[in-house]
Amino acid sequence: MRDIPFGRPLIDDEERAAVLKVLNGPTLVHGPVAKEFEQAFAAFTEAPYALAVSSCTAGMHLAYMAIGLGAEDEVIVPAQTHAATAHAVEFSGAKAVFVDVEASSGNIDPVQVEAAITSRTKAIAVVHYLGVPVDMAEISRIAGKHGLFVLEDCALGIGSRYQGTHVGLLGDVGCYSFYPVKHITTAEGGMVITQDGQLAEKISRLRAFGVDRHHGQRTQPGMYDVTMLGYNYRMNEIEAAIGIEQVKKLPAILRARELNFKSLTSALAQIDGINQFAPPPNDRVTSFYCLSMLLEQSLRQKRWEIVDFLHRNGIGTSVYYPRPVSMMTYYREKYGYSEKDYPIAYDISEATISLPVGPHLSVDDMMYVAEKVSEAVEAVR
Ligand SMILES: Cc1ncc(COP(=O)(O)O)c(C=O)c1O
Repeated sequence: MRDIPFGRPLIDDEERAAVLKVLNGPTLVHGPVAKEFEQAFAAFTEAPYALAVSSCTAGMHLAYMAIGLGAEDEVIVPAQTHAATAHAVEFSGAKAVFVDVEASSGNIDPVQVEAAITSRTKAIAVVHYLGVPVDMAEISRIAGKHGLFVLEDCALGIGSRYQGTHVGLLGDVGCYSFYPVKHITTAEGGMVITQDGQLAEKISRLRAFGVDRHHGQRTQPGMYDVTMLGYNYRMNEIEAAIGIEQVKKLPAILRARELNFKSLTSALAQIDGINQFAPPPNDRVTSFYCLSMLLEQSLRQKRWEIVDFLHRNGIGTSVYYPRPVSMMTYYREKYGYSEKDYPIAYDISEATISLPVGPHLSVDDMMYVAEKVSEAVEAVR
């Protein structure tokens, strides 16, 4: 039997040596390695500013703090995402206002966005779902018309491009995750990118308690003032050292994902009862995060039997995402939502089994996955 985990970080001798080098040196935080990682990530995405942070969630929280989001405000968030996209809004006391997504991609539906805008709306959060870029021209048009801030949750979108521009640079700010199952990892960690120098400076100080000057800028060691209510959301040197090595591997990682994804897409297309999202339009490049297969109605009640069959055959799966965020107990109880509120997001959650396409796997593994999916479907029919 094969061993096909949903995700497996590619940690090699380079990462191990880089971590040891940091551990053998004098500086674990506030050092040159985090800066070097920021520069490497900025070079990859072509971002003018990149700020390493402790997670994607922290990065999103910082962005909202930087614009002064508060209790009277609302932010529009897709219902089909990770809870973090909404939590980052609610940390500030503001309200996450969910909207439904497009059935063809799972991405936020711009028509629903426009309909949800009120006098309290301050921002739109978009998520490049499974790495497929959102229709950013339309989102920018809406944001421009209503004077709204745009946050791109790029947790699944390293390598994704819209009309040639890397995601995260199409709105005001883009936030990335380096959690282990993502394209690259630093164990825990994240990055914020932006084109706006003033926003970058504010986020940079907010990630370190709201200090008036950074370590390198202090004339007397240990002397500084605090001018804002900030957090400790920095990335340390050990994580950053891993990140630098991971960024070097990104082109190869993305090539492997694309090849695996395309092979699995073709193989699954032969199986009755399994649907897939539409391929992205020509002006968008996806990051091929995972392949979410969508079970047709007749198979949905057998979803966990299919998952169980795959697990027994060594194939790891996940669900992106297990339910719309509005249906997570915290939000459902707080705002009184039901499954009828965001029917497309709900339908996607109910239909999904997410399959791995990561660089730890080969095209031959993809053929094995498709073969086992076919056998699983036959077995439960
Ligand atoms: C869309 C999305 N946003 C944010 C996050 C949270 O990222 P982090 O764990 O780095 O805070 C995730 C995690 O899976 C995610 O899928």
